[in-house]
Amino acid sequence: PNYTVGYFVGSLAKGSINRKLAKALVRLAPTELQMREIGFGDLPLYSYDYDDDYPEVAREFKDAIAAVDAVLFVTPEYNRSIPGGLKNAIDWASRPWGQNSFTKKPSGIIGTSPGAIGTAVGQQHLKSILSFCNSPMMNAIEAYIQFAPDLITDDGAVRFKSTEEFLRTYMSEFSAFIERVLSVYPRLS
Ligand code: FNR
Repeated sequence: PNYTVGYFVGSLAKGSINRKLAKALVRLAPTELQMREIGFGDLPLYSYDYDDDYPEVAREFKDAIAAVDAVLFVTPEYNRSIPGGLKNAIDWASRPWGQNSFTKKPSGIIGTSPGAIGTAVGQQHLKSILSFCNSPMMNAIEAYIQFAPDLITDDGAVRFKSTEEFLRTYMSEFSAFIERVLSVYPRLS
């Protein structure tokens, strides 16, 4: 079966290394996964004052999540957590109360940083958040990618065969995980 995966790039930076990683993952995903980005850079800062009347940009954002079978977070670690923009987006998606976009939505988490722990601490924070949002998460395999200079080109070509194979395996494991979750929860689309 084919699945649609909406991916979030946690960084808003033009030269983001996580965007490069996301491009590589799109290239290496198995053919049954249709990958599309879910952007969040235009969302205002969330407040529950909006809950009675979500702005158009936030409704479109929630619709984009509703339309995919699974979500994949490709995110840097900022100050040992996730970037504020990504947390803001998750807060938008989780509300209004009773309309949490992530409930029963399978998810995966991956990220890269120049540091040796490769976003591990930030990913733990994200797991805690998505756990509260009732998203079934892929626990294994884990992926903490240390970004060496030129590891991945701007258009997503991976320099080392071993890294390329690992990322390919990550995406096929994610596909199998989505299939397992959707065999328990009914398909949404
Ligand atoms: C960082 N960086 C960083 N790296 C890390 O491994 N752990 C951390 O906690 C942080 N904290 C942090 C905070 C802020 C505000 C910035 C801007 C950066 C370094 C970070 O990994 C590096 O800038 C990457 O390039 C970020 O990924 P993107 O944004 O290029 O995808």
